[in-house]
Amino acid sequence: DTGMFTYDPGFTSTASCDSGLTYIDGGEGVLLHRGYPIGQLAEQSSFMEVAYLLLNKELPNKDELDKFIWTITRHTMVHEQLATFFRGFRRDAHPMAIMCGAVGAMSAFYHDSTDITDPQQRMIASHRLIAKMPTIAAMAYKYSIGQPFLYPDNDLSYTGNFLRMTFGVPAEKYEVDPVVEKALDRIFILHADHEQNASTSTVRLAGSSGANPFACIAAGIACLWGPAHGGANEAALNMLREIGTPERIPEYIARAKNKDDPFRLMGFGHRVYKNYDPRATVMQQTVREVFKAMNVKDPVFDVALQLEEIALNDDYFVEKKLFPNVDFYSGVVLSAIGFPTAMFTALFALARTVGWVAQWNEMISDPAQKIGRPRQLYTGPTQRDYVPLDKR
Ligand code: SDX
Repeated sequence: DTGMFTYDPGFTSTASCDSGLTYIDGGEGVLLHRGYPIGQLAEQSSFMEVAYLLLNKELPNKDELDKFIWTITRHTMVHEQLATFFRGFRRDAHPMAIMCGAVGAMSAFYHDSTDITDPQQRMIASHRLIAKMPTIAAMAYKYSIGQPFLYPDNDLSYTGNFLRMTFGVPAEKYEVDPVVEKALDRIFILHADHEQNASTSTVRLAGSSGANPFACIAAGIACLWGPAHGGANEAALNMLREIGTPERIPEYIARAKNKDDPFRLMGFGHRVYKNYDPRATVMQQTVREVFKAMNVKDPVFDVALQLEEIALNDDYFVEKKLFPNVDFYSGVVLSAIGFPTAMFTALFALARTVGWVAQWNEMISDPAQKIGRPRQLYTGPTQRDYVPLDKR
């Protein structure tokens, strides 16, 4: 009994690791970061404050937060030759393909922060990854539309800087919209960490071999890209746009229930949540705020709301405990802000880098940690003798 949660002593844990960062109660729809409920953090905190909390176990005071932000903003530029590296990609490359390549390539540029046995280098690598992800994500977007890269402006907030690098152009002054900045910062908070999900487990497994942090985060980006995981936000909006009108919802609900049809409602269901994903609640509210502030009239939100209403009252989804997850509404609000669908998972990766880095640090700084080695249940043939080719 840790004083917080009592474990059933008879329960044979299949846990892959101990971690103090994030607690999820899937049955109750509870998500805590270092004990703080996600709803309170999303409403009252900032992404940089949550990043500090995940990395340092406690919420920062004003001086600690200012120092952390100062440190992060001074790592926002990327090596000029990394920009050259970018120019090797095709313009129509998917932003996640670019993110995998560019972040992995950071191992080839920042040799002075790849020694994982040195706590100082681990901290510098962590700050570099958190600071440079917005720059790399914005560069991926700019490269895809043939516009010049913008250098970071450290007078702006972390999220404001990202908005300017993404939507600003050298020829004009870019004004950060405070409503959009707050909405996007909240969306980053909702995506920051989520216990031992597939991509975080990938980062931990890669890190357990002693691989450098840039390579580990690149591995996490690759895993997040899948449509069953972080790629679901892109797939969910594409699905909602394909449905197009509320009248077509029953057709897709029927397909999702048909065992012979591989179609699944994207943005619905979860490996852990068998209740409403608390992040989806905040995300839906954020859609309303952004739509109102930006005077957006996009029928896709009505389709999403009605699809949710129908699904939550359908026996199939009720029995299988399928609820909207974080990806169901995120695409609607990111699209309203102006991001193309292909950038949605890159934004998820940008935010999740904070969790990946915090989880990697937690693992790598544990002197007892060993290389990961998942076990298998062998289902192949029993031992047998080799048969020469002319006898087969
Ligand atoms: C994320 O792990 C994390 O924490 C991930 C994440 C994070 O922050 O890191 O929360 C982010 O990845 C959220 C999930 C995003 N993915 C999607 O929205 C894709 C659509 N969802 C499904 O692919 C699915 O729900 C999964 C992959 C999320 C979970 O798949 P499981 O483990 O098969 O789900 P389950 O065991 O709860 O399924 C129970 C039943 C199954 O049918 P039966 O085998 O019982 O007949 O429900 C069915 C599933 O086939 N089902 C769905 C469904 N999801 C599950 N049927 C229709 N539509 C769906 N979306």
